[in-house]
Amino acid sequence: QQLDMELAQIEKGGFDHFMLKEIFDQPASLTDCLRGRLDVASLSLTLAGVDQHLSVFTQAKRIIIVACGTSWHAGLIAEYMIETICRIPVEVEYASEFRYRNPIIHSGDVIIAISQSGETADTLVAIERAKEQGAFIFGVVNAVGSSIARLSHAGAYTHAGPEIGVASTKAFTAQLTVLAMMALKIGKAKQTLSDADYKHYLVELSQIPEKVQVILSSHELIKEVAQVYAEANNFLFLGRGYNFPVALEAALKLKEVSYIPCSGYPSGEVKHGPIALVDETLPTLFIATKDKYYDKIVSNIQEIKARKGKVIAIINPDDTAIRGVSDHVMEVPETDELLAPLLTVIPTQLMSYYIGVLRGLDVDKPRNLAKSVTVE
Ligand code: AGP
Repeated sequence: QQLDMELAQIEKGGFDHFMLKEIFDQPASLTDCLRGRLDVASLSLTLAGVDQHLSVFTQAKRIIIVACGTSWHAGLIAEYMIETICRIPVEVEYASEFRYRNPIIHSGDVIIAISQSGETADTLVAIERAKEQGAFIFGVVNAVGSSIARLSHAGAYTHAGPEIGVASTKAFTAQLTVLAMMALKIGKAKQTLSDADYKHYLVELSQIPEKVQVILSSHELIKEVAQVYAEANNFLFLGRGYNFPVALEAALKLKEVSYIPCSGYPSGEVKHGPIALVDETLPTLFIATKDKYYDKIVSNIQEIKARKGKVIAIINPDDTAIRGVSDHVMEVPETDELLAPLLTVIPTQLMSYYIGVLRGLDVDKPRNLAKSVTVE
């Protein structure tokens, strides 16, 4: 018993939980994900699975992304990346819906399956269906040699290392990193991305691991915010653009590890109903880094404050407008909006973790959940 406890402690690298270890592992796991692929010195990007099938991607009329849960949120961000950079229409589908809809698949369609475990039954069957109809299947998978990886025509491993915590954290940011590299490579090949922008994104991407480390160093501040809201019985997460799917992911993470019912929305949607939830007991977390939506977010925050809602905001360090109207802020370094989710998700992972622990819950193995949903 004692030995088991000590062994478990060693496995957790001295962290109290695998989830916390994996959150703190992200500077390393993102470096591993980039290794051998992104070379800033020569400004080159190598992704074997894409390089060997580049024409399939450059000639694709449509890309369909199928996934579940956190991986589906990564797909939503990939939709924005690929449509912006490659100008290819992207549809993101819940695998559990896609597989039963007798989906319309044209030859020349590319299916990207995103899965940490590579064993999710809904995703596996979804791509089996699509493969039968002639689609090209590309897997973005963490578990090497898993069923989804083996079923795909090609793929790119996320190299996040084993993720033990049921709530996905480092696998998510590794997925986003691979998807960003894919979008950049395809965009450059299609020449929908200028050389200057290509270089800009490569340099920004190379700096992400150290920027994640900066956020992790402020974990005590994030823990203090978690302490203020650990007893909340609801939460609203709001973001726009690339940060909208981060709001969805933040809500899922909090549900999973704290069992608090909560929701994420595009912050432009709040006036179409959800604002009815706002009163002095409801905390709203805005993901509000500097981008083209910034001024809109400021007014969204004022709408919440006018209804006595508490506001937490994830902002950039030089922010003043949002800092001035929020009850609490958590800072993330600036980066291009396309890569912002890699940073803005970190404080939400930590906040969910600390709230779950403060509520005395098993954040590594939440009730009712399995790490890989291999049943249908
Ligand atoms: C995420 O925290 C959950 N554990 C769950 O939603 C997970 O993302 C989903 O089951 C998909 O798993 P996969 O990435 O292994 O396919």
